[in-house]
Amino acid sequence: MPTGKPVNLALVGCGGIAGAHLRRYEELLNRGEDRFRIVATVDSDFDRATACADQISGKTGWRVTPYRAVEHLLNSETDLDGADICSPHGLHHVLACELLAGGVHILCEKPIGVTVKATQKIIAAAKRHNRIAANAEQCRRSIGQRTIYWAFHSGLLGDPRLWYAIKSGWQDPSDHPDWHWRVDRKLGGCGMVMDSGAHWVDTMRYWFGEIDSVYARVEQLEARPHQKDDRLVRDAREDFWTSIFNFANGVIGTWSWTISAPGKGFTQLTLTGSKGSLVDSDIFHPAASQARGECQLIDGTTYGMPQLQDMFLGTLSPREKDRLFPFGVTDGMAIELWDFIDALSIGRDVEIDATEGLKSKAVSEAIYESGKSGQVVKVADVISGKVNAYQRDVDQMWGLD
Ligand SMILES: NC(=O)c1ccc[n+]([C@@H]2O[C@H](COP(=O)([O-])OP(=O)(O)OC[C@H]3O[C@@H](n4cnc5c(N)ncnc54)[C@H](O)[C@@H]3O)[C@@H](O)[C@H]2O)c1
Repeated sequence: MPTGKPVNLALVGCGGIAGAHLRRYEELLNRGEDRFRIVATVDSDFDRATACADQISGKTGWRVTPYRAVEHLLNSETDLDGADICSPHGLHHVLACELLAGGVHILCEKPIGVTVKATQKIIAAAKRHNRIAANAEQCRRSIGQRTIYWAFHSGLLGDPRLWYAIKSGWQDPSDHPDWHWRVDRKLGGCGMVMDSGAHWVDTMRYWFGEIDSVYARVEQLEARPHQKDDRLVRDAREDFWTSIFNFANGVIGTWSWTISAPGKGFTQLTLTGSKGSLVDSDIFHPAASQARGECQLIDGTTYGMPQLQDMFLGTLSPREKDRLFPFGVTDGMAIELWDFIDALSIGRDVEIDATEGLKSKAVSEAIYESGKSGQVVKVADVISGKVNAYQRDVDQMWGLD
């Protein structure tokens, strides 16, 4: 039976990913994690906040109050412990700082802040108000990524050496999808290097350690305008990048992606150590690689991922299993939510806090900065602010410069 104090949560931003979080909260409840309640929902679109509150009440019987702004939430809810922020990127630091100043711990979707400076603002606010700022990053917590971590760290694959993650495909630029906040530089801040790339950077840092520097080409090969009302709006996001990562321990990584290669596409993820490789040629994005692909050792021994997973699980004590897969949950997103609930309930740190999120954030920004300058970029220089030409306009829009 879990111990600790009950935790009251608010869901801030009730769009697509909030729905995915709700399914995971439900899974946790069904599995026996009963130390939390969702007491409020917030969305600037009040109908969404209301629909979300009704949905939660309908399933749980809890009294859930909808709000249209965090300010109203803080004025009315006197017993709130934590907030789960699922808003557009540009609002992460705005909402997080408001909530932290109101004494509320936060769990914030990736990327933690829209720029490095925005993220540093969240970290400073958490410190000032003595509250937890956690980064909602699910990939490394899934059973597939934990298994790959074990395959390297147990010595099975030897010393980590290099990896390739490549996806090349085609999306028709004449499609003109509807405008979305991700297209807006102020709200989105970036393209896929930062967006789904946040998952991949966190995952590879988890497997292989810190990244010292990167070199990248980042391009827009096709204009991809979006339909906004009766006009077409430019989308400044990249549709191609290729990048080389230099890890502090000598590991070399190559990460490339495009949706602007007409004809037959391909995907490949290869993670290599001195004794063998893990290979998956069916990836949506590299961090999404779960229990697929196979492991081949230097002597020809081959394991499918499910077999490797069983080998990994066989090494865990009941206590370690409970820590990594509480209540037997193996879905990374459910575990990310549980980590926040458990941390608030028993008063411990989270696995991925905002400082950890900043390290991943800075690597994604280093790719953009290298693409802009044509130079090799040190991640430390992006964190210190010495290199920030790519992010400067977004910082200016938010008054962060
Ligand atoms: N972890 C993942 O796999 C994953 C997947 C998709 C999205 N995300 C992340 O989740 C976040 C949200 O993305 P989404 O796809 O759900 O977007 P979305 O547009 O579907 O939802 C965002 C919601 O925020 C609301 N909102 C806007 N301004 C607000 C404000 N001031 N206060 C409260 N609510 C406000 C919007 O009305 C909308 O309902 C982003 O950070 C995104 O990167 C994560």
